[in-house]
Amino acid sequence: MADDACAPAPQLKPCYAELVAGRAYLWCSCGRSRSQPFCDGSHKGTGFKPLVHVAKTAGEEVLFCVCKQTRTPPFCDGAHNNLFAAYERDDPNSAANRAIPAIAADADGKARLDGGCAVCTIDDRALESRGALRHRRVIGAEDGAQHQSLFYLECRRGASPAADFGDRHAVLFVTGGRGRVVIGARTFPVEVNTGVHIRPGEDFRLENDDGEPLRLFAAACPLADAISWREEMQGRFDDRFPIRTVALDASARRQMGDRFFQMLVDKTIGSKIATQFIGDIPLSKAAPHRHLYEESLIVLSGEGWMWTESRKAPVRTGDVIFLPRKQIHSLECTAPGGMLVVGVIYPGDNPSINY
Ligand code: FES
Repeated sequence: MADDACAPAPQLKPCYAELVAGRAYLWCSCGRSRSQPFCDGSHKGTGFKPLVHVAKTAGEEVLFCVCKQTRTPPFCDGAHNNLFAAYERDDPNSAANRAIPAIAADADGKARLDGGCAVCTIDDRALESRGALRHRRVIGAEDGAQHQSLFYLECRRGASPAADFGDRHAVLFVTGGRGRVVIGARTFPVEVNTGVHIRPGEDFRLENDDGEPLRLFAAACPLADAISWREEMQGRFDDRFPIRTVALDASARRQMGDRFFQMLVDKTIGSKIATQFIGDIPLSKAAPHRHLYEESLIVLSGEGWMWTESRKAPVRTGDVIFLPRKQIHSLECTAPGGMLVVGVIYPGDNPSINY
């Protein structure tokens, strides 16, 4: 068999690098180099050739693929997660993990883990009222967030005031009730498990005809201190992007090891780097890992533990988890039926990339 029939996989994780502007990096495509992820000339005679990447900006952060299965060479696209039947796991009962203490939430309902990672419990205490609406900020700069903030909104029978996040993207997810989200001059029916995209410069209003409140979370990307309110809608709607809601669709699920996820608000409907997904996690503890994006997760069902290097905190249905960029973490599901989560990553377009 010819040596270039396939590229062997020397490692199952990408390699993080901070690049020098203008420098050319020769990425090993054959998998034989002993200087991964870079070429050392070992491809000679194999038919493989290194791929050149020239860094555009100083300090550009990248994850070079090392498994050689990526479809976006030279960068990782998460394909390494599917090299084995199960997502990479960790033993929660190992001696090292048994030594990690559980911590409780502070008075504000947030259990603070290492590096700004937090598990937040949503309760009624901190909700502010504004007509038919009750709302609160769940994640913001006070938590160390740098890229996204998360708000909880609850609309009782009637209509909310007009709201906007200025020149930011807003990514909504409905967790209870049904009703309508009016974006500019367009009206979109929504129900539980609907993702919604509001573009920069647009405003929105919630409408609810039911006795049951319409409950949702809104991620503002980039970070916003607060929602701007006004009585009247301005009516702006960016017609170039007519699709604004995405529902659950079993046929759109993608596999990641023994896990599944579905993209909701993402680049296919015009949201290039504010990305929403829903995913299920089986009874297991993920191996500790990190991401280059900031992430907020809402636990829709199930329970477990959030782990960082020296702390762990319980996670229950309804909780929100905040994950800063590059913070090492591991989410454990202890529910036999699994855990369902919905997340927003920013800046990023692929929630399966980890290192
Ligand atoms: S390391 Fe190859 S796809 Fe991630």
